[in-house]
Amino acid sequence: MAFVANKVALVTGGASGIGFAITDHLLKNGAKGVGIVDTSAQNGTKAEKKFRDEYGDKVIFIQTDVTKKDELKAAFEKTIAKFKNLDIVVNNAGIMNEPDWKLTLTVNLEAVLSGTFMALDEYLPKYRSSEEGLIVNTASILGIDCMRTIPTYSATKSGVIALGRSLGHQEDYDKTHIRIITICPGYIDTPLVSAAINREGYTNHQPDPDSFISPDFVGEQVVCLMNEGKTGSVWVIEEMEAYAVNFPDRKDMKVV
Ligand SMILES: NC(=O)c1ccc[n+]([C@@H]2O[C@H](COP(=O)([O-])OP(=O)(O)OC[C@H]3O[C@@H](n4cnc5c(N)ncnc54)[C@H](O)[C@@H]3O)[C@@H](O)[C@H]2O)c1
Repeated sequence: MAFVANKVALVTGGASGIGFAITDHLLKNGAKGVGIVDTSAQNGTKAEKKFRDEYGDKVIFIQTDVTKKDELKAAFEKTIAKFKNLDIVVNNAGIMNEPDWKLTLTVNLEAVLSGTFMALDEYLPKYRSSEEGLIVNTASILGIDCMRTIPTYSATKSGVIALGRSLGHQEDYDKTHIRIITICPGYIDTPLVSAAINREGYTNHQPDPDSFISPDFVGEQVVCLMNEGKTGSVWVIEEMEAYAVNFPDRKDMKVV
């Protein structure tokens, strides 16, 4: 049986793009309930209605700014109050806004740290419905192949990768039974990218529109990874495939 069947999930940034697609595939694969946690009331309400029409009373939209710890905590608690458990936390909300680098840092990294630690230390140990809990954090291919025109965004995504790799050690899993997986999508056709393309100086690094993939493909792959992804693993999702990143051993990194 799929890992997600009968599980309860919380998805930040779930009202749009990749988070919306992850929510859709969670529900398609039999999740018991999903808390959609997003700042956008308009998109959140729309998403809640769409999913309720399709899957019944299995979603709750909780308008939340993930950078505010008390709001994020309340979102965890409302999801648990509605569905009685919490098994999967997807820290996915993100922005690309180089001029406001402090906000980018706060949304893309600090809030992912908050969501990860709340899940790991507090809510998954207490409320998971089976042996295992799961955290999925959304980084980006740009956290590995950093882009000179969006240094803050790239730095935050490198941070998210480092977080998942450090917390995802097998020895820690043996104690917590909480897996941590990091995803690194490539160019995905979402509002975040279309808004940024004209704004962030992509002009000298225009992504080829043919290389864009749909958020639906990412959602489908993420739900597969929820079954099989090992703790600490980092997955690139681009060009219609998902593969685990093979990071070099530090002893092999020196160029001789
Ligand atoms: N689209 C891509 O090509 C791409 C590639 C790699 C990684 N990502 C990452 O995927 C994640 C999702 O992005 P997307 O492309 O689906 O974009 P999107 O704009 O469609 O979705 C992002 C969602 O996050 C929400 N959000 C932003 N700030 C928030 C906050 N403070 N609190 C709560 N919600 C907030 C937005 O309202 C929006 O609904 C982001 O972390 C992004 O960096 C995107």
